[in-house]
Amino acid sequence: MVGIGVFSDHTDRGPVFAELDQELDGALSQCCSEEDFTGKPGQQVIVSLPSKSAVRRVFIYGLGEQTSYTSEIARRFGGDLIRVANRTSAAAIVAHIPDDNSVEESSIQPIVALCEGVFLGNYRYTSYLSDKGRSPTVEHLHIASTQGGVNETAFHTGIQRVRACAQGVNLARDLVNMPPNDLVPSRLASEAEALATRHQLDCTILHAADLEREEMYLHLGVGQGSSHEPKLIHLTYTPKNKTSDRVIAFVGKGLTFDAGGLSLKPPDAMMTMKIDMGGAAAVLGAMEGIAVSQPGCIVHGIVGAAENMPDGAAIRPGDIITGKKGISVEILNTDAEGRLVLADALAYAQDQKPTEVINLATLTGACIVALGTNTAGAFIRDEDIYTRLKQAWEISGEKFWRMPLSLDLRENLESDVADIKNIGDRSGGAITAGLFLSEFVDQTVPWAHLDVAGPVFAAKARGYIPKGGTGFAVRTLVEYTHLDDHTA
Ligand code: BES
Ligand code: MN
Ligand code: ZN
Repeated sequence: MVGIGVFSDHTDRGPVFAELDQELDGALSQCCSEEDFTGKPGQQVIVSLPSKSAVRRVFIYGLGEQTSYTSEIARRFGGDLIRVANRTSAAAIVAHIPDDNSVEESSIQPIVALCEGVFLGNYRYTSYLSDKGRSPTVEHLHIASTQGGVNETAFHTGIQRVRACAQGVNLARDLVNMPPNDLVPSRLASEAEALATRHQLDCTILHAADLEREEMYLHLGVGQGSSHEPKLIHLTYTPKNKTSDRVIAFVGKGLTFDAGGLSLKPPDAMMTMKIDMGGAAAVLGAMEGIAVSQPGCIVHGIVGAAENMPDGAAIRPGDIITGKKGISVEILNTDAEGRLVLADALAYAQDQKPTEVINLATLTGACIVALGTNTAGAFIRDEDIYTRLKQAWEISGEKFWRMPLSLDLRENLESDVADIKNIGDRSGGAITAGLFLSEFVDQTVPWAHLDVAGPVFAAKARGYIPKGGTGFAVRTLVEYTHLDDHTA
């Protein structure tokens, strides 16, 4: 298959289009005009050619206006390209991206991004299918760019990074997609152990008895209505070449299933709750990407894993529980369980003496109401982390939006009988959840909370994002650990 990227504001569609079009007696331009192809971002035309021709299909793809061309658009091009190629059993892809006349230095970025889109788009979850269908057919990817003088070393470094990231992203997707009868907390832990073994990371698993010793009664409480014991997973990456004094702790919410507990969810809301370990999946996926791409700082990957179920042993609305941090919590809704698990996991993370803590969680439906399903809420207490996270998400192209930790809503969490209660008002629900977490992280520790409830799962495939688990946040986290690479 031949893929051709086209800018909407260019008067012609480039030399490759022109040449092929001429060979095909104008078939390409005819299809484009029949389908009103203008080159707006993401627009696609697929032209099938007679079976005797060497090229079976031409995929024409809109890149939008050249001035707003970014790596993210090239990445989506790559993703759509590989998905169409696999669907149509193509064995090879020749992708053409036009010269964007950018400065020499950045000129490899769209090419690397296109490859990244291809790696990321080449994913399907088939583990549980008896008939796995056709496996991906594409074996060769050839990129043709009119861009002059690609720097080979920079290109190879770039490709290595995106390969490492894609490996981590695909792990996160597999974990989110795995059904909750198999992905129970102990299985999440053994997947983490396998990851540690693959890459020589340190790995500690805390079992229920260990959690008790650590006084992590909030985490234990959430798990006590389930027959599957809660676990805390702790992976550590230590660089061979330490070039930075940063010690980063990523902390993930790992609810392998969230039925709501006794504050039971209605059926429709429960249907997708296997994704409630999406924050944990992002952390584990990032640890894989980090182990492969080797940043110069220490990184802790910590996951609080549990299953939130209702049974005779489950926590009740009205219970007061004090966890590792010594703050008593009145639990008024057992479905606000992620913040309870994270409260203890965040306390545990602070014992590792991190210079910064970033937690990821499918924490609230309210965050989805606020931002839609494709954008994560970024609640950031520290301006330095904000600057760095923003740099990282601008490189990755993943969508985050900063949200306020409005202190005036703090009074909604005041309890008559305990230090704090676990729910606020319905309004501002994503913010009060963030404020709750904030209480469990010392003010001296730079901290951010990323609410990824929406983007960890996609109802429909688009660009390089497959249907189902998306692996959201993995690439941003990996990039975050590499921000000092150039300055060191
Ligand atoms: N896991 C859910 C949040 C969620 C909802 C994630 C939809 C992904 C999609 C979380 O544990 C939860 O139930 N939150 C409640 C909080 C409420 C009880 C204060 C919510 O958002 O309704
Ligand atoms: Mn819940
Ligand atoms: Zn939950």
